[in-house]
Amino acid sequence: MGGGGGMGKPLIDDEWRFGSDDPTLFKLIRGEIPQQTMPNVIGKNMTDDEIWKVLLYVRSVYAGDAAKINWAVPPPVPPEMFAAAQHTGDPVAAGKQIFLQICVPCHGPEGHGDGPASVALDPKPRNLTDPGYMAGLDDRYLFELVSRGGIAVGKSPLMPAQPTLAAEDLNNVIAFVRTLSGSQAH
Ligand code: HEC
Repeated sequence: MGGGGGMGKPLIDDEWRFGSDDPTLFKLIRGEIPQQTMPNVIGKNMTDDEIWKVLLYVRSVYAGDAAKINWAVPPPVPPEMFAAAQHTGDPVAAGKQIFLQICVPCHGPEGHGDGPASVALDPKPRNLTDPGYMAGLDDRYLFELVSRGGIAVGKSPLMPAQPTLAAEDLNNVIAFVRTLSGSQAH
């Protein structure tokens, strides 16, 4: 994905990537930026959720200097959102679907940190199957991490926020992540 010729800016270009915050990119994909040259025929037929997924993927292909990343720190998760989130149905099965959709490109299908996008990332996505390491991360922390991204908890911004996941989805994906290492929830 070099984007060398023509009008398309390369997705790996620092200036393009970091000149635009998430809301701006969201509007760009949807086709709502006046005078934009990127066609909007696709974006305007996409759901919000699909647009966020594209945006997340675009963010994930960046292979450059993490220190140059200037993403805004997402606001804290209100404590009542965490407290009110209930597991319903089968949290592990529901969480697995979310994991397959969102986390696998970086963390790999089994959570070893070896998904296709991991090649380009430094630091590498964490190996989620390590019981000793995972036992040290409590559920409240994982909730903040997955919801608000690494940057909000002092980790790398390459671990992205998931602003579209509801509290229940967050709890479900955490329940599934626990099964990868067999570590007990705290
Ligand atoms: C764009 C790639 C990417 C995606 C997508 C991604 N992660 Fe990560 N993740 C990372 C990176 C990189 C790190 C390492 C951050 C660090 O060590 O500073 C990480 C670290 C983690 C950690 C360890 C945090 C710690 O304190 O060491 C957990 C747990 C985690 N990710 C869970 C998830 C879950 C669950 C999903 C899906 C909802 C997900 N990640 C999606 C890249 C990603």
